Amino acid sequence: MSENVTAGREFDYHGPALDNVFDTYKQLREQCPVGKSEKHGGFWYVTKSEDIFAAEQDPDTFAVAPSMLMPAFGTDMPLIPIDIDPPDHTDYRKVLLPLFTPKAIAKLGDGMRRTSRELAQEVAGQEVVDASHLFARPMPTIIFSRLAGFPEKDWPKFDRWVDDIIYERTDNPERAWNAGREVIEYFDDLLTSRADEEPADDLIGVLQQAEIQGRKLTHDELLSYCYLLFLAGLDTTAWAIRSSLWYLAQNPEAQRVLRENPDEIPTAAEEFLRTLSPVQGMARTCKKDTELSGQKIKAGDRLVLVFGAGNRDPEVYDDPDEIQIDRQNNRHLAFGGGIHRCLGSNLGRQELVVALEEFLEVVPEFSLADPSEPWHGVGPLTLRIGK
Ligand code: HEM
Repeated sequence: MSENVTAGREFDYHGPALDNVFDTYKQLREQCPVGKSEKHGGFWYVTKSEDIFAAEQDPDTFAVAPSMLMPAFGTDMPLIPIDIDPPDHTDYRKVLLPLFTPKAIAKLGDGMRRTSRELAQEVAGQEVVDASHLFARPMPTIIFSRLAGFPEKDWPKFDRWVDDIIYERTDNPERAWNAGREVIEYFDDLLTSRADEEPADDLIGVLQQAEIQGRKLTHDELLSYCYLLFLAGLDTTAWAIRSSLWYLAQNPEAQRVLRENPDEIPTAAEEFLRTLSPVQGMARTCKKDTELSGQKIKAGDRLVLVFGAGNRDPEVYDDPDEIQIDRQNNRHLAFGGGIHRCLGSNLGRQELVVALEEFLEVVPEFSLADPSEPWHGVGPLTLRIGK
């Protein structure tokens, strides 16, 4: 059997499979850009930017139901709005729009900066430190939990739930489902207690007052929104911050440039999102027989839009595997690209930029203390601070 066929059949986009995944992406894109993997019950992987954008633009053929999460996120309830297809998707998505406009996100700016600075100061005072635990993870947890109205006393529970649901679901599905149940119970209680209070000016308050197709949202719909936003809002941004620091820790020159020119941090942040994308792929289900890059795909087949591979497609980017912190015209797929394009992209971007600004301002030159720690995920990132 040829090497590329084996690579394709065994292709995965989770966990340790990501360690050297960029070589695999190159091989697949060159030799078999749309092919079949046997993992997770079997799926077609789609690795070229053009094909991914085309599939994103055609939700009638490439549906999200039963779920774009493969394997499931510790529950089989459809998550709103990510697992909802047209026509209902538009109404469900609309409910969340006021929370994520650039203006709404700008209002969070001062608190975000203060929190980042305080967390960065804890890192700066140490010699060897886990910057994921002390900085990359708590920053988005605090910012999003305040926006959402998740009580501060509960925040310490969140990391384990995220780890079990997102990172254990491939090797340890039972653990993911148990954590999923705990999260459902948690939001069940929170929503019930909030139902008797005056609606507050936060995510839960907005959802409780929202109307869809002339009616209020049901308790199960509220639960589904909370469950998805909890997972979408914490893990992705933590990954983006951690992976950016992972890169910078190995590149003192990039640290120097960004410290001296903080106005270049937003451009660098886009490049980190492109090359070290927190969401490497999302699933779809084919609703009718079709073709992508000459490959026939049948109705009912599952496929995965591999954003991480599309983001390094040489047909779109010069030297695609090179991280160029000043790369311009960087139209990438880190937030998707169709009707399900990330609703939290303004928030995620701003959190990443502010986190990097404050970290570089407060923390002196840093390097990797444990080079065996991978580029991906939200696990430890051990840094040595100071030269
Ligand atoms: C750097 C951080 C983030 C990245 C890289 C990211 C990435 C993504 C991706 C790839 C999708 C799926 C797009 C598709 O399949 O076309 C998505 C959807 C979504 N994201 Fe994010 N995300 C981030 C942060 C956030 C945050 C902070 C929130 C909210 C708190 C959020 C909320 C959502 C929602 C609600 C959807 C579903 C939108 C829909 O189905 O219409 N994301 N995100």
